[in-house]
Amino acid sequence: MDKLSIRGGKPLNGSIAMSGAKNAALPILCAALLSEEALVLDNLPRLQDIASMLKLLRQHGVEVSGEQPGPVALRTPHLASDEAPYEIVKTMRASILVLGPLVARFGRARVSLPGGCAIGARPVDQHIKGLEKLGAKVTIEQGYILAEAKRLKGARIVTDMVTVTGTENLLMAATLAEGQTIIENAAREPEVVDLANCLIAMGARIQGAGTDRIIIDGVARLHGAKHRIIPDRIETGTFLCAVAAVGGDVTLTGAAPRTLDAVIEKLREAGADISHNGDWIRVRNDRRLKAVNARTLPYPGFPTDMQAQLMALNTTADGAGVITETIFENRFMHVPELTRLGANIRIENDTAIVQGVPTLSGARVMATDLRASASLVIAGLIAHGETVIDRIYHLDRGYEQMERKLAAIGADIQRVKS
Ligand code: EPZ
Repeated sequence: MDKLSIRGGKPLNGSIAMSGAKNAALPILCAALLSEEALVLDNLPRLQDIASMLKLLRQHGVEVSGEQPGPVALRTPHLASDEAPYEIVKTMRASILVLGPLVARFGRARVSLPGGCAIGARPVDQHIKGLEKLGAKVTIEQGYILAEAKRLKGARIVTDMVTVTGTENLLMAATLAEGQTIIENAAREPEVVDLANCLIAMGARIQGAGTDRIIIDGVARLHGAKHRIIPDRIETGTFLCAVAAVGGDVTLTGAAPRTLDAVIEKLREAGADISHNGDWIRVRNDRRLKAVNARTLPYPGFPTDMQAQLMALNTTADGAGVITETIFENRFMHVPELTRLGANIRIENDTAIVQGVPTLSGARVMATDLRASASLVIAGLIAHGETVIDRIYHLDRGYEQMERKLAAIGADIQRVKS
């Protein structure tokens, strides 16, 4: 398995381009199942998860042409298989996003139940409850969700908690339902809005995306469209944290500053100098940061996908930072690894108290999930001496060529091929 070797303590300077958003691209790729006409996508990131999704869609019968970042054209003239097999779903939970489109357009789907993952149990009961509200008959057999419906019927759905992919699945399903659907307590994430904009370009009738109440008037069919995936706000936030924590002056281009208000505010509170306009963000820092507190919340609150990276930043900040994780029940797997690098972190239930230390020192550490691996990269850039990170396949799922981008702004980082 590939590893990363990092020699830290070097300030970062220069400019790098951000990639398209993984968590917008995944549902939007599934939207291709909703029409027989071509959906042409641009700014698709080159990531392991995108490759897995394309593999899943091809076996459903989606014809794919073109290379990432695009244009990539997807067309679903007919359904080759209604099954999303365990072998693919177990590698990527987001496979659940084929469920809504398959039932909506083809009237049936057989999707492997995604098991738990490193950061939590992550059930999909809200996806199923919502589809049943839309009139689908849903059963669970041999680890598969079987869903059937002649034609879905519009309904009012209130989800028990804010769920991002749950909102996306039901949003896609409702576009071809008979009548009106209202999703209450909907997720407001920019990735949900990007999906809605793509569906509207395909002829869907959607109002209220970006608010907690989305109204969809079903149509008989959707047509082809062109769509550019929004920039990845979590990739951008990760680089902002890295430069602020290590020091330097870096401009991130092809970004979407407006989707990062909570993150930018937190970094300014820590003492980093951040300026932005249009599609660029500049971060500068040349002094020790102040420790900051954060509580993860659904958008527009502080994103759980930035929790680990902010924790890494707090490891050498002045003072103590209290970080509370409210979304996932097991998202502190990076703490023992950061401790191996010399961090001082105490966990009490859903809260981590990070006492800033003067420096970190390099060591061998292991990635446990996507964002945990990003926090270890930031800690490795801070630490003196060599840090070696194992299992970076986690990182490759969600960061496009991270070591190349970091090397381009002066980091001493190499991928050690197994
Ligand atoms: C999306 O996951 C993202 N993944 C996650 O990013 C992100 O952490 C998460 O939203 C929260 O922002 C994609 O978009 C592909 P949820 P999702 O449903 O949709 C509970 C990354 O690092 N819940 O919003 O699976 C659930 O257990 C990944 O890129 C139910 O109980 O998250 C969690 O506690 C990691 N039942 C909470 O709701 C349900 O049916 C929020 O989960 C659905 C969710």
